[in-house]
Amino acid sequence: MTSAWTPSSWRSFDARHQPSWPDSSELDRSVKSLAELPPLVFAGEARSLTSALGSVAQGEAFLLQAGDCAESFEASADSIREKLRVILQMAIVLTYSGGMPLVKVGRIAGQFAKPRSSPTETRGDVELPSFLGQIVNDVGFTEAERRPDPGRLLTAYHRAASTLNLLRAFTRGGFADLSQVSTWNREFVASSPAGQRYAQMADDIDRALRFMTACGVTNATTPTLHEVEFYTSHEALLLEYEEALTRNDSLTGGWYDCSAHMLWIGERTRQIDGAHVEFLRGVHNPLGCKVGPTATADEIIALCEVLNPRRIPGRMTLIARMGASRVRDGLPPLLAAVRESGHPVVWACDPMHGNTYTSEGGRKTRHFDDVLSEISGFFAAHRSEGTWPGGVHVELTGDAVTECLGGSDGIVDGDLDQAYETMCDPRLNSRQSVDLAFRVAELLRQRD
Ligand code: PEP
Ligand code: CO
Repeated sequence: MTSAWTPSSWRSFDARHQPSWPDSSELDRSVKSLAELPPLVFAGEARSLTSALGSVAQGEAFLLQAGDCAESFEASADSIREKLRVILQMAIVLTYSGGMPLVKVGRIAGQFAKPRSSPTETRGDVELPSFLGQIVNDVGFTEAERRPDPGRLLTAYHRAASTLNLLRAFTRGGFADLSQVSTWNREFVASSPAGQRYAQMADDIDRALRFMTACGVTNATTPTLHEVEFYTSHEALLLEYEEALTRNDSLTGGWYDCSAHMLWIGERTRQIDGAHVEFLRGVHNPLGCKVGPTATADEIIALCEVLNPRRIPGRMTLIARMGASRVRDGLPPLLAAVRESGHPVVWACDPMHGNTYTSEGGRKTRHFDDVLSEISGFFAAHRSEGTWPGGVHVELTGDAVTECLGGSDGIVDGDLDQAYETMCDPRLNSRQSVDLAFRVAELLRQRD
């Protein structure tokens, strides 16, 4: 039996991966200020995303969820624009070559909190609190930087607000216009196979647009040529922050976590009797839940029952992150069990988090081939169960980093130090991301 839900009912449950804030009165002050600030998103937008994801659950659309592992408070406008650009490029590849409507969700404008495998980090004989994302502490390895600082909750809110403002401007103000598809590609077109493929596709789209204009289909008649629906998401990890931004929708009377359109529960905090599940069951946003290799069918179905008792299509996305070597055997029984339960979920593939390892040079990395292999295995598993491979969830950046190995540039271990900039997990760079989109589009085309 579940008891009554309130935005603070999670407080009577075990909340894993919460920081040990040194000063609770400072925390209370920050949370109180947050609760008085305006919501970042509107409940109606979250409902639109649920409905778009409902189409994905029915096999009529595909989800692309992508962005940073951990966003930085210092991200420049250029870097935000480049991240959006690469996500839009991937989306256009998937829409055009894969032939599917795309639901676009960024890991952006709030992806600041990180669960870590150990609460402390030791370098030499110095042990300090681990870096938990800039919403808690800083990445530098000094006592001052690693001290959890509740003032950061407010900085995170303001960073999320300004990032979201820029995203709204770009997606509504012409940057996402379909006639811009070829200009998004300028800098890497000549120098990479994925770039050349992309340029060819952009030419085809330009030709199709000229044809449509000649037929009278223009921006004025069809705003979707000019604007794009782009949603935000992050891991709902820091429950103090999420509670403070949870608001009652004046139109429906329902509670929404207005820190982002979609929230997900991480692999480390999905305990059925834990505080994260308790908190998220009561908000009406679309939800994600990571599903790792140890998840059992019973656990997943129990999560679906608690988080989506009314079985609303689009409410629940299961994000499988099994690892390339486990997905082909491990995923089919879970797909079958969820199918048998009748829960209308979106299944997405996170091909990043089950494929992380330490390179010989000591860098945390992922190989493009493993990422691709997990996605292929995900599609194969769905094919064998007759279920819909609903989407991909990837960590990427628009910056020219060298964090993941392989891809068409053939990044090798010795290259990783050139531009290894991530604050947490290694991300695909823009070429690797566009390349990946073409590979996923091929898998989508082979689906029937
Ligand atoms: C993440 O998405 O950055 C993450 C920590 O993933 P997971 O919960 O799947 O390990
Ligand atoms: Co990550």
